[in-house]
Amino acid sequence: LRIFAGNSNDPLAREICSKLGIPLSPLEIARFSNDNLHVQVMANVRERDVFVVQSFTEPVSDHIMELMITLDALRSASARRVTAVIPYYSYARSDKKDAPRISITGRLVADMLRTAGADRVLTMDLHADQVHGFFTMPVDHLTAIPTIAEHFRQHYDISNMVAVATDAGGAKRAGRFSERLGIPMAIIDKRRISDTQVKQGQVIGEVKGRDAVIFEDEISTGGTLITTIETLREAGARTIHAGAVHGVLCGPAIERLREAPIESIVVTNTVQIPEHKHLDKLTVLTIA
Ligand code: R5P
Repeated sequence: LRIFAGNSNDPLAREICSKLGIPLSPLEIARFSNDNLHVQVMANVRERDVFVVQSFTEPVSDHIMELMITLDALRSASARRVTAVIPYYSYARSDKKDAPRISITGRLVADMLRTAGADRVLTMDLHADQVHGFFTMPVDHLTAIPTIAEHFRQHYDISNMVAVATDAGGAKRAGRFSERLGIPMAIIDKRRISDTQVKQGQVIGEVKGRDAVIFEDEISTGGTLITTIETLREAGARTIHAGAVHGVLCGPAIERLREAPIESIVVTNTVQIPEHKHLDKLTVLTIA
């Protein structure tokens, strides 16, 4: 077995290797003067079972291309089986044709992975379960829900907690989290106004006087989270926490969350969070 890593999340790949007691195999990734990427596999992979760890984080296009070129290089080097380990598959959010003349890019990238040489894909908490169906090769779709639920069970009194879905699309996910903890759930009516802003309406479920845990697949610009915090405060929640699998934290997210009236925010390391984005109220759990 050999494990390689692109440039998106080297610490996670190293942690996975250390848990398996094997070294991370070397990959040389360079950029030519004309901005083309160049990848060379620096270990023999002939007839090996090979895994490449790469999350689709900023710069997303570079990280996707790094992975595609690596998969192609591994196949050309006669690897027996190649698994693309994509802890965060960002294009999963492009999963439907909700405007005229657009691409369903989540499916396009799945096709590109097949063309590049991925025999399997291993990913975590896709934006929507059905994105799984975009892949024509076997997919292991793992979830960090047990890891995040266990954190809340160990560190908080969950007897007065309610899990909150920020919109109808997230209800199944928040429902699984609530079941895991044996707590009730609530759902909020949400509309997206733009990439960074959302608006919310009615809360369905009981949150007044309760300790609310907003449960999400990802925190991207933080727009959904801050709007949900406001909605829950108006609805009388006693305390507010958040749990999300992917801490993307892009654009205005950190400024927004720094000031937000929330007790704690828990994410996992599917996305590598640079030092300058760490907040006191932010906990990063490992999914290695
Ligand atoms: C939306 O459908 C997702 O589940 C998340 O709520 C969303 O991706 C978060 O994005 P942002 O932090 O930019 O509001």
